[in-house]
Amino acid sequence: MELPPQVKNPVPIAIRGAGYYLPDRVLTNADLEKMVETSDEWITERTGIKERRVADPAMSTSDMAICAAKRALANANMQPGEIDMIICATITPDMQFPSTACLIQKGIDARGAFAFDVSAACTGFIYALANAYTFIASDYVKNVLVIGAEKMSSITDYTDRNTCVLFGDGAGAVVLSRTDNPGHGIVDFILESDGRNALWLQVPAGGSRIPASTSSIGERMHYISMEGREVFKFAVTAMKRTTVRIAERNNLKAEDITWLIPHQANKRIIDAAAAALGLDASHIHFNIQKYGNMSAASTAVGLAEVILEKKPKAGDHLLLVAFGAGMTWGSLLIRW
Ligand code: COA
Repeated sequence: MELPPQVKNPVPIAIRGAGYYLPDRVLTNADLEKMVETSDEWITERTGIKERRVADPAMSTSDMAICAAKRALANANMQPGEIDMIICATITPDMQFPSTACLIQKGIDARGAFAFDVSAACTGFIYALANAYTFIASDYVKNVLVIGAEKMSSITDYTDRNTCVLFGDGAGAVVLSRTDNPGHGIVDFILESDGRNALWLQVPAGGSRIPASTSSIGERMHYISMEGREVFKFAVTAMKRTTVRIAERNNLKAEDITWLIPHQANKRIIDAAAAALGLDASHIHFNIQKYGNMSAASTAVGLAEVILEKKPKAGDHLLLVAFGAGMTWGSLLIRW
């Protein structure tokens, strides 16, 4: 297989501010025990998840994204009018169209921006950051708001124990701008996909192939359907490969990675990726136990948590890695 492309002569583009939002309502493993045939022990052992957040029915993906975006702007000490471009990574848009990014633009009143969504499932936030990087590096825009937001509860079948224990809701956001600090900011990324197994993870109906109908609703085709074991095997290989490759090609050893910020689908997948690099668990940012798998919002919230709560120092390396439906996978390296 050909090697993926590499960022050449990186332009210094850094994160100016970060924010995240999580709904208040907590759905615990004990709650799920009352809904489907499962146990706290099974969920904890097989996934590492103890609880997840669930948004109120009236709250949409863009509502959560707007809260996260406002916090990121406040943290960056910037006004919405300074934002030139908004990218939202999501697979749970408020509606098929308009884009969730345009609804966020309205919600934060960023009139000078243009806005669009990115659909790369759980890898979406990394794809969106890479998009922001290339738009800024080409001098097309200056300041970009990047959001990963998901209301996974809206596509989760709470009668299916194979999937309903895994997912949660949330949103994370960052503001990116060019800096005058060479060698810092986003220094490299790897984006990959393989459509041959596109149907391993899907919501079968509601699109143009199977529009919504009484039979699609009756057959529960508007919910996530997943080949769990196949996805697991694929994820371990892809996560290991992208983690090791981006570290090696940037001459970084395990001890040079300050924070690994992985997609939080399953603790066993994260442990395998970290072990491939020889990374100690104390350098992995975990939020899976609290939030479950929030798809594109997992790495977005993870990155915002690391920035706001772990306060990286100049020269620290933050490494985002993710995989998701598509199949898509990738990594993105930030030197603080
Ligand atoms: N509670 C109790 N038992 C459950 C269960 C649950 N919530 N969900 C599944 N099981 C059962 C299965 O029915 C199966 O029973 P069987 O052997 O009688 O058929 C058994 O547990 C083992 O299933 P298996 O699929 O082998 O479990 P696993 O160790 O692979 O773990 C996943 C299942 C879903 C946690 C794991 O495959 C996984 O994480 N896959 C990747 C999913 C993912 O990342 N999705 C999102 C991508 S971004």
